[in-house]
Amino acid sequence: MSEIAKYGATAKWLHWLIGIMVIIMLLGGQTLESLPLSERQQIIMVHSGLGTLVLLLMIVRWYWRMNHEVPGPTSAMGPLQIRLSSWMHWGFYVLLVLQPVLGIGQAMFIADYEVVAFGVINYSGLAAGNAELARVFHVMHGLNALVISALVIGHIGAGLYHHFVQKDDVLRRMWPGGKVGQRSS
Ligand code: HEM
Repeated sequence: MSEIAKYGATAKWLHWLIGIMVIIMLLGGQTLESLPLSERQQIIMVHSGLGTLVLLLMIVRWYWRMNHEVPGPTSAMGPLQIRLSSWMHWGFYVLLVLQPVLGIGQAMFIADYEVVAFGVINYSGLAAGNAELARVFHVMHGLNALVISALVIGHIGAGLYHHFVQKDDVLRRMWPGGKVGQRSS
């Protein structure tokens, strides 16, 4: 079992930065759909730019995770809780890489407007418009967003459960400046 008591600065920065960006993207994505085309094109510049950043940060995070030890399960966690937590964490890694990739796929084939991330990367210029393929990627991007939303809710719930019910250090060890060792670990 891991001897590490808490996450280091790199892991904490990546966790909170990606977490905040993903929540903004999930909430913002829903409103995107109802905007008129001209406004949508403007907002999509930011949406696709932030999404591209999430992809790059997730690659860094994945690389970091493969090369560092992380704090292990606490003594209060049963086998099912340990398994669920591991599935949830690896689920995030897979789905948060997949989500921007599906967004880029959608952007490449959209015919109604251009998707230019931060006004710099023109994803729509990478392939000829194809309404059928754009629709497939659109549906997968939307469905994956729903699964990620469920994971986010479960993840926040699990963090609060650890902190307030199991009263362990799980939330504190990822919290900026969090002190561990005062509760059971
Ligand atoms: C973590 C990254 C991302 C998240 C969480 C996210 C989330 C979302 C959500 C929730 C929607 C609404 C889906 C629906 O209700 O059907 C959406 C729509 C969309 N996203 Fe993303 N997205 C991400 C990355 C990207 C990227 C990288 C691109 C393009 C390069 C992109 C392009 C689009 C487009 C074109 C739409 C559809 C807008 C429309 O209806 O015209 N997304 N996104």
